[in-house]
Amino acid sequence: MKEFKRYTVTTALPYANGPIHIGHLAGVYVPADIYVRYLRLKHQDVVFIGGSDEHGVPITLTARKEGVSPQKIVDRYHNIIKDSFEKFGISFDIYSRTSNKIHHETAASFFKSLYDKGEFIEKTSKQFFDDAENQFLADRYIIGTCPKCGAENAYGDQCESCGSSLSSDELINPVSVISGNKPVLKETKHWYLPLDKYENWLKQWILEEHKEWKTNVYGQCKSWLDAGLFPRAVTRDLNWGVKLPIPQAENKVLYVWFDAPIGYISATKELRQDWEKYWKDSETKLVHFIGKDNIVFHCIIFPAMLKQEGSYILPENVPANEFLNLEGDKISTSRNWAVWLHEYLEEFPNKQDVLRYVLCANAPETKDSDFTWKDFQARNNNELVAIFGNFVNRALVLTHKYYDGKLPQPSEITQVEQEIREEVFRIKSSIEKNIENYKFREALKDFMQISRIGNKYLADTEPWKLIKTNPERVKTIMYYSLQLCAINVILSEVFLPFTSLKLRNLLNMGKTDWEDVLKFDLLKPEHKINNAELLFEIIDDEKIEKQLNKLEKTKKMNELSEKTIDPQKEEITYDDFVKQDIRIATILEAEKVEKADKLLKLLVDTGVDKRTIVSGIAEYYKPEEIIGKQVCVLINLAPRKLRGIESAGMILMATDQDGSLKFISPEKITQNGSVIS
Ligand code: MF3
Ligand code: ZN
Repeated sequence: MKEFKRYTVTTALPYANGPIHIGHLAGVYVPADIYVRYLRLKHQDVVFIGGSDEHGVPITLTARKEGVSPQKIVDRYHNIIKDSFEKFGISFDIYSRTSNKIHHETAASFFKSLYDKGEFIEKTSKQFFDDAENQFLADRYIIGTCPKCGAENAYGDQCESCGSSLSSDELINPVSVISGNKPVLKETKHWYLPLDKYENWLKQWILEEHKEWKTNVYGQCKSWLDAGLFPRAVTRDLNWGVKLPIPQAENKVLYVWFDAPIGYISATKELRQDWEKYWKDSETKLVHFIGKDNIVFHCIIFPAMLKQEGSYILPENVPANEFLNLEGDKISTSRNWAVWLHEYLEEFPNKQDVLRYVLCANAPETKDSDFTWKDFQARNNNELVAIFGNFVNRALVLTHKYYDGKLPQPSEITQVEQEIREEVFRIKSSIEKNIENYKFREALKDFMQISRIGNKYLADTEPWKLIKTNPERVKTIMYYSLQLCAINVILSEVFLPFTSLKLRNLLNMGKTDWEDVLKFDLLKPEHKINNAELLFEIIDDEKIEKQLNKLEKTKKMNELSEKTIDPQKEEITYDDFVKQDIRIATILEAEKVEKADKLLKLLVDTGVDKRTIVSGIAEYYKPEEIIGKQVCVLINLAPRKLRGIESAGMILMATDQDGSLKFISPEKITQNGSVIS
């Protein structure tokens, strides 16, 4: 394997169009953070790059919806996202943003250098245009009927009902989102990156030279390459984004996926004067952490751009993860099916490491995985509390009890201690191998093994019994147990940074290095430790139920809004409407109709008279609860007999999405007989 002098580690730049959720953390930022923390502990030269992706059409749509500028939207979400990352201990060297001046300059000059080399194909094509607004319409600005499933409101690039990807000219009855008008086709010029030209090179570079990439990544690249590559437009008609640095290109910007990855470079520039060595030196290892929907951009398009520009290094690896689901369903922003990081922190303050732990233990490394609150609870209670927390607590408490919090001088070591040392040695190198191969789940399991060993050590040797018969032996046991705790400080710095710090303070321990893991004398005899405190606490059922209820509510809301609304009825005239005589009336009496489960017999005061009406509402209202209620009654409906009772009129009801009926009542008490029109 090639040796590298330094590392450039990037993480997908999240769109500043909403807050971030557990899916982001599990897929990209927790693994990247573990990787970088590990490299730093090994004294590697590394820059860890993050930032917000602040361009693209959805941001302009959000802005339009709220009636504010796109800058306002990205300012809001950039700050929320940045704050969430900080609070979860994602240890970026810089968290930048693509609306920065330095980024605009960097991206524009990148484009310009390819342009000057004649790398782009210029092509004129017809695109939808909104005459009223005098503006070209990006795919997302056009809605219409889906040609595949017939759903209305499909976007110009995708139908969210059936998931088909579309092009806007396929839509039936396309409409401009901005004006509601029918768009017209108009010629426009764009610049295309000739991906087909790089196909052979990409095949060689990925399929031959990077067979070690993760199977999900390699597989996706292979199917793109097998299908053949085509020129791709890298410019758009829009006025939010990086302006084209060439003449006669007003109102044109770089396509968001052209500028965003250049954001990694701009951020490095912003961070360091000597940024070039992180991007232009072949001894630098460039690693992109992303989610699977970003694979083609990071493995094919961006490398093709870098290669053509000519002065940059290429990614050495792109460890993309699959997706994290939530309670069996795809995480979705529009359906609010997510655990938002800022909300998690409100519910579980100071439990960042619990989430980091669960998301790493259950990361979608090879296939999609599922986050459930029960699993969250179980991993906290049965693993963090029962294994890690328990071991540390026993070691600390016993040290206080026997030695007043001072490390004893160990006596002879036995076979048991020898085996523990060997085991730690093996675990350390397994963690290294796993992290270096992006197998963070396995690495985390290895790490927990230390505490399992510690627990077994105490359970097998039973110092609480030996203290009476062989106090010398107990000194060794406690000394070794505390060394295992110290090892946990170092290892958890990678996975659980908050806990690491807490434990370091409990142990009153100074600075350490990764290699110190093997020392077994990190804490010296006579070293004084602080009072024991619990590292983790049990999460009870009530807390979990609360989260589950919240999701249940969301699900219900979604179901309601997904039910189709009855289409509008045939047009009527005003005269048709006023034929109906609808009045406010008060229910005076109500009783069940015998042998009819659904019917109530009501006596109502319509202002005109008091009359009997039979109504099919017994499933929804109890007689006693509706007496005195004001409702709307259609009084000139021809009377008819129901179960032998003459019913003179109809109570108006709203039919809810689930088919249940509800009264329509006046906002305030109104005189009976008031006309509704
Ligand atoms: N904003 C994109 C997304 O959330 C990711 C951009 S990654 C970058 O899918 F490389 F382009 F920055
Ligand atoms: Zn469809």
